[in-house]
Order: sequence, then C-alpha cells, then structure tokens
Amino acid sequence: MNVQALTDTARSMVADDKGLLAMDESNPTCNKRFAEWGIPQTEEARRAYRELIVTTPDLGESISGAILYDETIRQKKKDGTPFVKAITDVGIIPGIKVDTGAKDMAGHPGEKITEGLDGLRGRLVEYSQMGARFAKWRAVIAVGDGIPSRGCIEANANALARYAALCQEAGLVPVVEPEVLMDGDHTLERCREVTEEVLRTVFNQLYSQRVKLEGLILKPNMVLPGLSCAKQETVDEVADATVRCLLRAVPAAVSGIAFLSGGQTPELASARLNAMNVRFKSRLPWALAFSFARAIQQPVLEIWQGKESHVLAAQQALHHRAGCNQAARRGEYNAAMETAGGPEQHISEQALH
Ligand code: 13P
Repeated sequence: MNVQALTDTARSMVADDKGLLAMDESNPTCNKRFAEWGIPQTEEARRAYRELIVTTPDLGESISGAILYDETIRQKKKDGTPFVKAITDVGIIPGIKVDTGAKDMAGHPGEKITEGLDGLRGRLVEYSQMGARFAKWRAVIAVGDGIPSRGCIEANANALARYAALCQEAGLVPVVEPEVLMDGDHTLERCREVTEEVLRTVFNQLYSQRVKLEGLILKPNMVLPGLSCAKQETVDEVADATVRCLLRAVPAAVSGIAFLSGGQTPELASARLNAMNVRFKSRLPWALAFSFARAIQQPVLEIWQGKESHVLAAQQALHHRAGCNQAARRGEYNAAMETAGGPEQHISEQALH
C-alpha cells in the first residue's frame, strides 16, 4: 500500500478551501427528488441533470472532488465525453459511492445497517480503473427512544472500517461517513453524546482494521438538535458543540473532515461551517470542509425542473452555493452573499461562452 499517495490524495480533497460535491444519489433517491419537481424519472433525465452539474463553468474553483454513483460514473456528456474525463479535465477528483444502501437491521427495530462488503474488493478495482481516486460509504444512526443501540453502532463501525481497509488496499481514499440523523425531537446535547460515541467506536474499529488515518477523510454530521426539537441552538452554539465533539473523538492524524449536510437548509449549512472556521480554524489539527449533497443541489434542482431552458440559471445556483461554502471554509461567508444580484452569484460572462 502506498500510504504517501493516499495521504496526498486525501490532502488534495480538502486543499485550497475547496470541498466535495456529493452527486452520488442512488437511482431511487434521485428519482424521489425528481418526482418532487415533476421531472421524469428516467436514465436520460438523470444523465442530463448530472451533465448540467459537471459542465457548470468554473466549478473546479470551489469543488475539489465529486462523488459519483455507479450509473453516473459510466455516463457521458451528450458530446460523448465521459463524465469522469469532464471533471478530471477541470481539476475535480472523481470519487464513487460504493455502499449498497442502509437496510433494516435484524433484531434492531428502527435501526439500519449499511450493506455492500460482498464483492467490494473487485468493484473497487473496476472503479479505480475507471478513474475513481476515492470512495464513499455511509452508515446511518437514528436517534430515538432507546436507540441507537450498541449493536447497531458497532456493526456499522465495523463495516465502515472493513470498507476503508479495502479502499486503501485498492489505492482509493475512503470517505468514512457515519451519519447521526437529524430526524426526531432529541436535543443538541443528545446528538453530541451519540456522535461522540459513534466516532469513538468508528476510530477504534479503523485502528483494529489497520486503516491509515492520514489516508482517509471523515464525513460526519454536525452536532445539531433534532429537526423537531423545540430548542434550536444558535449558529455559534452549534459550531462550538460540533468542534468540541470532534476534538474529543477524532485523532489529529486524520487528513480532513468534510461535513454532510443531512437536511439542513443550504444557508444554515454554510453559516455553521463558517462559524466553525471563524472560531476555531487556527487551533484545529484537520481541515474543516464540506461534502454536501442537498445543501448544494437543492436550489439547483428547484430551478432546473428538468427544463433545458433553465440549465444556465441552475448552473448559476450551483456555482453560487459552491462559492458560499468555499467562503465558509475561509470564515468569510456572510448573509449578504445570499442576496440576489451579489457579485458571487454570477458565473463570469466569459466562462459561459
Ligand atoms: P447530504 O449533504 O444531503 O446529507 O448528503 C451527503 C451524502 O453524501 C449522503 O451520503
């Protein structure tokens, strides 16, 4: 295993205040989001949408890597250029989602276990030959009455670590994503407690499975109150709780942390990431970056609605959100950036032609 090469890739995934764009929705998830906007749920519509994303002008200025899905990594632009080549040509590192989804966990009502280890070694070789340089696996941990259970946390952490070891063997950087869900009325303190336990368990398992921490990216949730919790803490309180939790549970050797958005609004996700970088950046051992799907893509889909004539406006929205999150990495994001007509909102005229 070439640890230096893995470390170099991991570092380049969080370099220059850029972040990852998660565009790895499985077909059922992508179709569900299309259905909300009346977009046809076809392979061609999914391809057209992903072409819109990968051809957004200047995307490589704020996005370091893009996470693709099995269908997407095999697709091409209308002109025949493979998506992998299109993004690599603009300096974006291609990655691939390799888990096969979170399934109901036997004996654990209300909890999920992520599957996909069977045959993974062979699939990683294939993806690597197709140009992928990193992979992603998402475990989901629900918070509720009597959950999460120890059994669920341990089984998911073990699967994440076995996946990560296989990735490194294949020369791919594993993005390790243990997501504590926002659904429910639990408090921020409960989320902090669960997130800390999950992260400690994940890093114990990564150590047992001999995963090199320098050669991975952690993709955690922010520490947040449940969506239906009556008390919603301020942006700064969320930033403090999240960073404190990470400092306790994430070893300094890890090359980078890239948050998932998990159902936060795009603006809140940017504001919270910004607050963490404003308040703590100079004191942290790892970069705090983003790996958002919904918090980047939601406005894009809303504008596109499957219409060719809306592509440019949708690309402007994508460019804008990516730019806001890059600013948040620098601690330079502010609400004024969200007002229509702001300078960051527009892709340069030149880039569009
Ligand atoms: P969200 O940012 O929408 O939570 O998605 C991140 C992701 O990659 C989920 O696996």
